[in-house]
Amino acid sequence: MADEMTANVTGRHTPLVTPAQPETLTPLLRDRESVMVYDRSHELRPEELRAILEAARWSPSAGNSQPWGFLVGLRGDDTHAAMVEVLSSANQAWAPSASAIILTLHQVATDEDHEIAYSDYAMFDLGQAVAHITVQARSMGLQVRQFGGFDHRAATERFAVPPHWAVTTGIALGLPGGPDDDAKVPEWVRTRARLPRSRLPLEAFVHSGKFGHTADFLTDH
Ligand SMILES: Cc1cc2nc3c(=O)[nH]c(=O)nc-3n(C[C@H](O)[C@H](O)[C@H](O)COP(=O)(O)O)c2cc1C
Repeated sequence: MADEMTANVTGRHTPLVTPAQPETLTPLLRDRESVMVYDRSHELRPEELRAILEAARWSPSAGNSQPWGFLVGLRGDDTHAAMVEVLSSANQAWAPSASAIILTLHQVATDEDHEIAYSDYAMFDLGQAVAHITVQARSMGLQVRQFGGFDHRAATERFAVPPHWAVTTGIALGLPGGPDDDAKVPEWVRTRARLPRSRLPLEAFVHSGKFGHTADFLTDH
């Protein structure tokens, strides 16, 4: 039985999608989703923004290297406007309505003064810091949608990012929008935002004994 399941689940060519079943999760994670429609009138207070960035600050990293950076634009300011310009056209359709856009960076080399040591885990650590941002934001009633669709080279130039840093992803952060905001996004955004969320089953990525073997605790009930 386990081997049959293994054969089925290890090939990612099989479209193994199951409806999301997050009822066992802590509400902070259960109620998280990548929101595409934001409240255009909501403004983040400086203390809220600081709390969200503190979540990144206190996340773990290899050797406490803290190899992350964040460029923050608030809707209406020049940084935000410059960020919107480098977004992919698809992301331009929804991301600007969020209260903030954050571009994330991770360190890719030791700097000239050797003040920052390079870590192989830098991108991993950045990802974890962003996860902490996501959870902190949720605890404050906010949501985020991360995105990779933007011109990384243009962002690097526009924000004068030094060579030992790489612009990595974007985060749209804000209060989920209501029906008025919904009416202001293009139809395709509304449709996409309403698509049911789905996930691979645990058996597709949890292994025991050796890679590809399904763990008993996943099938014993
Ligand atoms: C690294 C990364 C890049 C992503 N890029 C985009 C993007 O460019 N545009 C977009 O609309 N969503 C983007 N997403 C959001 C994913 O599509 C979304 O997280 C996924 O569909 C799962 O949905 P959920 O977060 O609501 O569970 C990205 C997410 C991550 C983590």
